Amino acid sequence: VSLIISATNRPNSYTHRVANVYQARLTELGHPQTLLDLQDVPHDLLFSDLYGKRSEAFKPFEQQMLAAQKMLFVVPEYNGSFPGILKVFIDALPRAAFINKKAALVGVADGKFGNQRGLEHLTGILNYCQTHVLPYKAHYMKISQLFDADGTPTEALLTEVNNQLKRYLEF
Ligand SMILES: Cc1cc2nc3c(=O)[nH]c(=O)nc-3n(C[C@H](O)[C@H](O)[C@H](O)COP(=O)(O)O)c2cc1C
Repeated sequence: VSLIISATNRPNSYTHRVANVYQARLTELGHPQTLLDLQDVPHDLLFSDLYGKRSEAFKPFEQQMLAAQKMLFVVPEYNGSFPGILKVFIDALPRAAFINKKAALVGVADGKFGNQRGLEHLTGILNYCQTHVLPYKAHYMKISQLFDADGTPTEALLTEVNNQLKRYLEF
């Protein structure tokens, strides 16, 4: 089972929209998946679940992460890296959530680099936590241009989603 992680808690994010596109495509391909949205984590996560403590509210997120064999991180670029909420989330989880797992990374940005830097940073951290990272990364730059005015994903976006998912499913 794949877990798609929408890696920001910013409301109405493009990241969430891109995560939905990946989810829809995986469903079409008959690949079981669930979406974990960092908008839904307990709001006191930063103080409730770090350093060995565990709150009841966070347990379902921990369970989802422990159960996932493959993960697809959809990650926006904030100040030249991935969002702080994602590092807090990683730091709140046990190492078993990462050991010998496989992950694919998807970058989403307003700017012209498609979160290349943030995905490099995240690759280093996931490798440190013993997760294998798919070398083929998707970088969606100028993200607002990759959706039509009515919110439909453009062909350019869908083509790259297919390119990456082909490799992800073989991984
Ligand atoms: C705190 C913050 C920092 C940002 N920093 C960058 C950045 O360094 N480079 C960039 O291309 N876009 C940056 N952006 C714009 C986001 O990439 C843009 O909002 C894009 O839609 C992806 O984020 P979203 O999923 O939250 O919508 C930043 C946005 C926020 C909220």
